[in-house]
Amino acid sequence: MRKKIVAGNWKMNKTIDEAMELAVKLQEESSSFPKNVEVVVAPPALYLATIEMIEDLGFSLSAQNCSHHDFGAFTGETSPAMLKAMNVKYSILGHSERRQYFHETDAIVASKVDACLRNKVQPIFCCGEVLEERKAGKHFDTVKSQVENALFHLTKEEFAKVVIAYEPVWAIGTGVTASNDEAQEMHAFIRATVEGKYGKEIADAVIILYGGSVNATNSAELFACPDVDGGLVGGASLKANDFMTIIKSAGQA
Ligand code: 13P
Repeated sequence: MRKKIVAGNWKMNKTIDEAMELAVKLQEESSSFPKNVEVVVAPPALYLATIEMIEDLGFSLSAQNCSHHDFGAFTGETSPAMLKAMNVKYSILGHSERRQYFHETDAIVASKVDACLRNKVQPIFCCGEVLEERKAGKHFDTVKSQVENALFHLTKEEFAKVVIAYEPVWAIGTGVTASNDEAQEMHAFIRATVEGKYGKEIADAVIILYGGSVNATNSAELFACPDVDGGLVGGASLKANDFMTIIKSAGQA
């Protein structure tokens, strides 16, 4: 039985006061998180150290992105070695906003995956098609090549550390979520693709999150799909009550 993960991607939102208020609220509620759900929060990198210092945090921390280098003359970058040293467990990698606005290619994402694994930070690897690709029936090809290009150079042991997030770009921040059938179909396809490369045991174990307009109303149905192992939540993770509802719905799925 795979555990569920509910991860909140705060993106570039909140002042430090607002961020601390939300983090403290989640910490206070953390004793009521379902035991089979790992809660992950990805605040802006600037706030990770402050949030990490909250006592008995009760949830895991993730970066939203990181460098493919460990240290050096890379102005403005965040190193996975630094993340690890601050008890940051995960880094989101290859988010569609990074691909679209910061021109991250599959090759760059692959080198970030390597850098994270080298430093014992677990990648939350994002993949997903744009609307034109879905309309043209190319969504499976797009997702397959993203997964293959960024992950399939890994050994079995390395791959076992990776969490995959399927985020159809047309569903991100739009209020239009994939239907339960569309999500389940793609998640099953990703799992089958993984099985083709790494075998059934690894494929059965890999955690595949859905992201794209997950909210307190639709999360229960999405998380009940057999191959959906939780969510990567943007906008709805910025409100404590909504995020708590989503976390609890994962516990019942
Ligand atoms: P929304 O939940 O705001 O659609 O964002 C999804 C997302 O991009 C999470 O990484």
